[in-house]
Amino acid sequence: MSFASIAYPADKAGRYDLLLRQVRALTDGVSHPIANMANAAALLWQGLPEINWCGFYLMDGGALMLGPFCGLPACIRIPLGRGVCGTAAQKDEIQRVHDVHAFPGHIACDGASNAEIVIPMHFEGRVIGVLDIDSPTIGRFDETDQEKLSVLVRHLETCCNFSHTVYAL
Ligand code: SME
Repeated sequence: MSFASIAYPADKAGRYDLLLRQVRALTDGVSHPIANMANAAALLWQGLPEINWCGFYLMDGGALMLGPFCGLPACIRIPLGRGVCGTAAQKDEIQRVHDVHAFPGHIACDGASNAEIVIPMHFEGRVIGVLDIDSPTIGRFDETDQEKLSVLVRHLETCCNFSHTVYAL
């Protein structure tokens, strides 16, 4: 399977299905979380239209620390309960935000961001981190994005052995 300048299907579900096949191929036989999250972020960055940031934050010492990502440099540490990411991690609930400017406490790392989706990721039954994607388009993320990105995160939970890393709950 090629990963360079690939032509993705125009329809959203088909695009995600190809992205998921690519993620599965790239993570096949790989259990290192950093390697897998870095490749997943690169694939999403290449494959998803109208996004300006995508990546991971990982639990470390009771807060979320910046992990593998694509986009502009971002805030490094997010306390639990702060911003969209900290809310998703603390509540263990997906946050799909139509307009980030209406989200109390939203942390603006990139002024271009107007919509955001954050999906908690688990290890041994607890939140180990989040997938975070930002878009300049208000209302960019819909049910299909949420469903397909959740499948991607469930796959990473299955293939990554988070005890490989220094990250601690
Ligand atoms: N907007 C996020 C902060 C992380 S950046 O978007 C990369 C938040 O409110 O948690």
